[in-house]
Amino acid sequence: MMGPVLAACLLIILSTAWISQANEALCKKDGGVCSCNNNKNSVDCSSKRLTAIPSNIPTDTENLKLGRNKLSSLSAKAFHSLSSLTYLSLFNNKLKSLPEGVFDQLVNLTDLRLYQNQLTSLPSGIFDKLTKLTDLRLSENKLQSLPHGVFDKLTELKTLYLFNNQLKSVPEGAFNSLEKLALLQLQSNPWDCSCKDILYLRDWIDDNKDKVTGAQDAACGDQQSKAVLEITEKDAASDCVSPNTTTAIPIGTMTPASVIYDDIHEIKVPQENFQKFLGYQEPDHLPTQPQCLMSISGYLGLMMSLMLTSAAILYVIHFLKKA
Ligand SMILES: *[C@@H]1O[C@H](CO)[C@@H](O)[C@H](O)[C@H]1NC(C)=O
Ligand SMILES: *[C@@H]1O[C@H](CO)[C@@H](O)[C@H](O)[C@H]1NC(C)=O
Repeated sequence: MMGPVLAACLLIILSTAWISQANEALCKKDGGVCSCNNNKNSVDCSSKRLTAIPSNIPTDTENLKLGRNKLSSLSAKAFHSLSSLTYLSLFNNKLKSLPEGVFDQLVNLTDLRLYQNQLTSLPSGIFDKLTKLTDLRLSENKLQSLPHGVFDKLTELKTLYLFNNQLKSVPEGAFNSLEKLALLQLQSNPWDCSCKDILYLRDWIDDNKDKVTGAQDAACGDQQSKAVLEITEKDAASDCVSPNTTTAIPIGTMTPASVIYDDIHEIKVPQENFQKFLGYQEPDHLPTQPQCLMSISGYLGLMMSLMLTSAAILYVIHFLKKA
């Protein structure tokens, strides 16, 4: 047990200089975690358990994959130097919200994948600079409402995924600017068909049946399970409750224990480098620096006491011989 741990510790301590350099590295060929295809200006950092976006992503990157990681927040400037991006994937992370203006520099972005996160809301104007966007995936989140006019600048959008969220309605006029839209997926939302706001969605679906996948799948969230398309003015006669009252439920209280457990075992990017360097499969088994120091001081202490003991024995033998 002592041997491998000590070897790992010595490697860790000796390679401190190497590591401070590796922290800077992005691409696998330089000791980083991401796969880089420089010809295609493409950086693939997906499925790496990242809790932070790697630094030093080249500013001419066009294709950036960050899906299937453990990102729980983004800095407002996360993508500000990456204005050449055309494709950005952030799906299957732990994002609960997006900072205002986070995508504002991505004027050439055509694909944005945000599905399979924990988003409960979107900042207003979040997509306003993405005028070239053709594909936007927001499905499998916890969106309870959409900001007014959130899609108004997306005149090139062809595909919009909103399925599997907590939407009760969409704001009046939400889809009116989407002249090129060819596919909208709306199913698995608890549409509230008892209040007036739903009538915009009903009329829009009615006018665009060919674009909505299974228009009948957009069903009301009550027990009757009526299709949104079938609601009458009489059904939707009441005023709607403001989204404010529904967003008041703290999401944190609904976090399952498994997620909390998982968070404890999150690893930071530098350690990932480490892990790769040492060839470890299980990052959790890698000794930390303090553990290393402890095991080394323990080891030294043991050696010292062995030496002292043998010195004492030798001294006693020497003394007895003399006598
Ligand atoms: C956006 O794309 C156009 C056309 O490909 C290009 O000329 C322009 O430099 C790009 N803008 C940025 C900020 O990369
Ligand atoms: C929601 O709450 C905010 C701040 O608490 C308020 O400014 C806004 O007017 C509310 N919106 C509605 C629709 O009630």
